[in-house]
Amino acid sequence: MSDQLISNHDLQPVRQGELLQPCVLAAINLSLNLKQIHWNLRGAKFQTVHEFLDLVIDQARMTSDELAERMVTVGVPAMGRSSQVDAAGLPQVPDEFVTDIEALELASSLLDGTIGIMRDARAAIGDIDAVTEDLVIGSIQVFEKQLWMLRSHLL
Ligand SMILES: [Fe+2]
Repeated sequence: MSDQLISNHDLQPVRQGELLQPCVLAAINLSLNLKQIHWNLRGAKFQTVHEFLDLVIDQARMTSDELAERMVTVGVPAMGRSSQVDAAGLPQVPDEFVTDIEALELASSLLDGTIGIMRDARAAIGDIDAVTEDLVIGSIQVFEKQLWMLRSHLL
């Protein structure tokens, strides 16, 4: 039986997997590192930043799930174990307390990096499958809106 269950279109599952897997790992890494900041930030804006980060974390978790499930839908297994996230060599936040401003800057940098990975993937996926591309575009749109909100705290 084919691993591709949804149609007889040539969805190039292996290639889609190569492009989507880094996005899945980046979204997981984003959620883990934002949670670290959520716990360890201190400062006058604590409550606002603490609560806002949880909204971004929820979105990052949802995005990793949707992208991973798209991989499986087109016919390739998705990877999201902690060892695989570590092996991806993605940015990590410090293992210490951070100020509210540092937290916002770290979160903005993490989000910006994740968006960059997803934008790179989007450009290549657009040549293969408009449905997957649409999912990636939607994820980028949400992350970019959150990046705008995060950076607005810094002005
Ligand atoms: Fe919490």
